[in-house]
Amino acid sequence: MHGRHILVTAGPTHEPIDPVRYLANRSSGRQGFAIAAALAALGAHVTLIAGPVTLPTPAGVTRIDVETAREMQAAVDAALPVDAAVMVAAVADWRVADTGQKIKKSGAPPVLQLIENPDILAGLARSAQRPALLIGFAAETEHVIAHATAKRARKNVDWIVANDVSGDVMGGLANTVHIVTAGGVESWERLPKEEVATRLAARIAAALGKQG
Ligand code: CTP
Repeated sequence: MHGRHILVTAGPTHEPIDPVRYLANRSSGRQGFAIAAALAALGAHVTLIAGPVTLPTPAGVTRIDVETAREMQAAVDAALPVDAAVMVAAVADWRVADTGQKIKKSGAPPVLQLIENPDILAGLARSAQRPALLIGFAAETEHVIAHATAKRARKNVDWIVANDVSGDVMGGLANTVHIVTAGGVESWERLPKEEVATRLAARIAAALGKQG
């Protein structure tokens, strides 16, 4: 994949509540980092936009660290154009509306007002710089394939990699995924996240190769 530029987002985002607290989720970043590593191993120029994780940067990958969903969105915009994007990050759906000074314990517990974060993947799908191959992830706990198929159409992406997160996937070492494309659904057995990454990278290389 020499000469191909591929964007990968990975990890959670942290959304501040006040200067010392934040909202987060259980994403470890492992699946996204493994995908970035596998793509770089095939010779692609990989830009990895990572939320707060404690993983080493894979060999040959350009890494940009961000904290919040809005920072991730800005970093994605700055990385364009790309030939393909693999949006693996577990972006926080909401952020706290007002973050000021540290919230003190004074009487009643505070009420946090949340507002929705931008959907980075859907925004990229609508943009003039939409990559030729746009891949989203879907974390599902039930009706995995039906939800992923609906998400693929709703977000206008080429492939959805559907994760069954009802077990210990978030933070774990293995993943059970279904690849949902225009052509149908391919279900892979439970595999180490590195093996999911290797197979997905090979599939991406084949798809970009067909586009010439
Ligand atoms: N995504 C994103 N920006 C967001 C939210 C999600 O880019 N603000 C991307 C993720 O990186 C992933 C896909 O969108 O590729 C997940 O879509 P989402 O609709 O958030 O799916 P789930 O997390 O599975 O949540 P839900 O089922 O509640 O829709």
